[in-house]
Amino acid sequence: MTTDTSTKPQPPSQFEQRLARHAEICESVLAALLAKEPLADEYARPARLLDAMRHAVLGGGKRLRPALVVETASIFGVSDREAMHTGAAFELLHCYSLVHDDLPAMDNDDTRRGRPTVHKAFGEATAVLAGDALQTLAFDVISRDKTHRDPAVRATLVQCLARASGIGGMAGGQMLDLEAEGRFTENKMPLALALSDIEKVQRMKTGALLTACCEAGTILGGADTKEASAISRYGRAIGAAFQLADDLLDVEGSEMEVGKAVGKDAAKNKATFVSALGPRSARRKLAELVDDAKWAVRPFGSRAEWLVTCADFIAARKS
Ligand code: IPE
Ligand code: IPE
Ligand code: MG
Ligand code: MG
Ligand code: MG
Repeated sequence: MTTDTSTKPQPPSQFEQRLARHAEICESVLAALLAKEPLADEYARPARLLDAMRHAVLGGGKRLRPALVVETASIFGVSDREAMHTGAAFELLHCYSLVHDDLPAMDNDDTRRGRPTVHKAFGEATAVLAGDALQTLAFDVISRDKTHRDPAVRATLVQCLARASGIGGMAGGQMLDLEAEGRFTENKMPLALALSDIEKVQRMKTGALLTACCEAGTILGGADTKEASAISRYGRAIGAAFQLADDLLDVEGSEMEVGKAVGKDAAKNKATFVSALGPRSARRKLAELVDDAKWAVRPFGSRAEWLVTCADFIAARKS
């Protein structure tokens, strides 16, 4: 007798178990960072702003960025708990980027992680401030002693986070993403961007932070130059793959599963590989990026098993 496994829920794989465990630990670290009580040198934590920050951060999201920090650090012998402090800083930065990305002045989205976006729930001014405060909290956290005992390592991590999220990284990429939206020919037809320009937008707005998460793991773990460059290559490949998968989900995914509206990129004439190449070629490119990511971490053998599976997860994800 054959068993139909397609409808039967499969037990979680080791990869999924670890991802879930990282998400659980991350949640508790983030909840503690967003506690009501002000820190010794803070004046107060205004309730409305804190509520908006908690809404943006807690109870949702795949927590992929902190998982990448922890898993790359673990290749170099750093414990999960120790690395999660840095992971939480990256997640705070990511959550800030989502709050601002959803604002009416940017992508104007109503739903995020299956819930109303921060500006829908708290208003635009509070959402702007929540994003601001999450960004500064990310830098506060990563500069704390708990991140790493050596201040020089902490300074390197601060710079890594800053470079990935500022003008030459996420924020710059978001600028290019918005500029690309408004490009039309004289007869009002959308003007396609060159593939190299699309690649640049995506590497900056999304890839930079994901790559930096992987690099943070090597900084925490004191990797040598060769090891760090292999991990960076992995980070760049999965970073590009991640946004490509996000763009495919925008076309092929369901709002229920992804937890945010779909079909919004085409409606806004966003510069994506899916709009430029079509879904089939975009999928082929995605597969190439996954192969490149796996190839990059081959030297680490079984120590990089989670990262290898993660590359597949990024391409196949439904949310
Ligand atoms: C969404 O990121 C925004 C992009 C960079 C494409 P995620 O898909 O990681 O969002 P969460 O954190 O799981 O909600
Ligand atoms: C967002 O890209 C990248 C960020 C820096 C937040 P998208 O605009 O495609 O992300 P979603 O689809 O709204 O999550
Ligand atoms: Mg956007
Ligand atoms: Mg968006
Ligand atoms: Mg998207």
